[in-house]
Amino acid sequence: MLPTTLKDTLWFFSTYCLCQSYQARDAFAECLASAEHEINKAPDKSDMFVTTSRLYKWHLARYFCKLPIRTVVLELGVYHGHSTAVLAAIFQQVIAVDINEAYLKIAASNDRNHSNIAFLAVDLMAAGWQMFASSGVQAVVVDADHRYEYVRQDAYNALSYLRELEYVVFDDFGHEVGVQRTVRELKRDGALVDCRGIGNGWNGSWWEYQNWDEQTGQQFTSWTNESEGIICRRGNFSASGLAPDFVDQRFYVYKQPLQHFCPTSILRLLPGHRLVTSLWGDGTWRKANDGRDALLLELQGLSDTPVELLFNSPRSAFVLSQFGEARTDWFGIRDHFVFEPFQRATRQFDE
Ligand SMILES: C[S@@+](CC[C@H](N)C(=O)[O-])C[C@H]1O[C@@H](n2cnc3c(N)ncnc32)[C@H](O)[C@@H]1O
Repeated sequence: MLPTTLKDTLWFFSTYCLCQSYQARDAFAECLASAEHEINKAPDKSDMFVTTSRLYKWHLARYFCKLPIRTVVLELGVYHGHSTAVLAAIFQQVIAVDINEAYLKIAASNDRNHSNIAFLAVDLMAAGWQMFASSGVQAVVVDADHRYEYVRQDAYNALSYLRELEYVVFDDFGHEVGVQRTVRELKRDGALVDCRGIGNGWNGSWWEYQNWDEQTGQQFTSWTNESEGIICRRGNFSASGLAPDFVDQRFYVYKQPLQHFCPTSILRLLPGHRLVTSLWGDGTWRKANDGRDALLLELQGLSDTPVELLFNSPRSAFVLSQFGEARTDWFGIRDHFVFEPFQRATRQFDE
């Protein structure tokens, strides 16, 4: 026979554990029910191709509702806010970002019953990610521009800036090569782990999607058995272990001191240490080995001796100088930063 105090203790713990598991199950069921309510209201991908399928939203809910605490989710690319509403039912807070203010207005109207969404008009390619760094973002949904340089930049920024980040979700994994390449590279580098498919094709089944010819713009249907989306956990990320994010970007290069806004040359650093420019011909680049975020360029059309390229911290701009000299002769800046004010002002004609 057990002593009374031990019996009491065991009773207390078994009741406590049972209670906790009932509470967890209740919280899970409640979270799923709220998400389901939103999913039923949202259009399916088969009706509105730009958004995610109901199955994708349902898989998101089943994955995240299981977590005991669901704090802040950052959605990159909102469109009409159909996935945003589901995220708002699952997480305490949603930060919903889109470049297009007209879309944000529609999304804000569609999601007006949710007071836990902050809609932000931001061009992700030009914005400084410091603004998200202190928001305690637990999960990010990457669903803005699906071209490789853009997806990679979004994922890289999320992994670099969001200290509390635990989960990264990618939409349109199934049929966007830029998304697939980004996920493949981040998995290879250990920055993403435990990935699992969600939405259409999650179990390897074939599904139909809308495709289009880039040359003619003509639409046609295609099939894939890759999953529509993918959820991964953050791995032991080391920024230096990732492919350098300056590769394949276009930089506009200006003579210093800046006298007019016409760039002297366009410069692109390519994989395989190749370098192409519009004025100085082609050359090569290699990393400087002195610990600084710098490259050494061999570019005969510009200089007979190596030229040093020194990046700013987000690698959105650089200065060029003759190797070993302090004076900087050229200033390079990512093309997006040059276009962004013009694009923003142009969009404002539509408002
Ligand atoms: C595929 S849609 C998003 C769909 C939405 N997540 C859903 O599930 O319904 C892509 C969105 O990304 C936005 N976008 C594209 N480029 C962007 C950029 N550079 N910065 C911010 N948003 C961008 C577009 O305006 C568009 O609304």
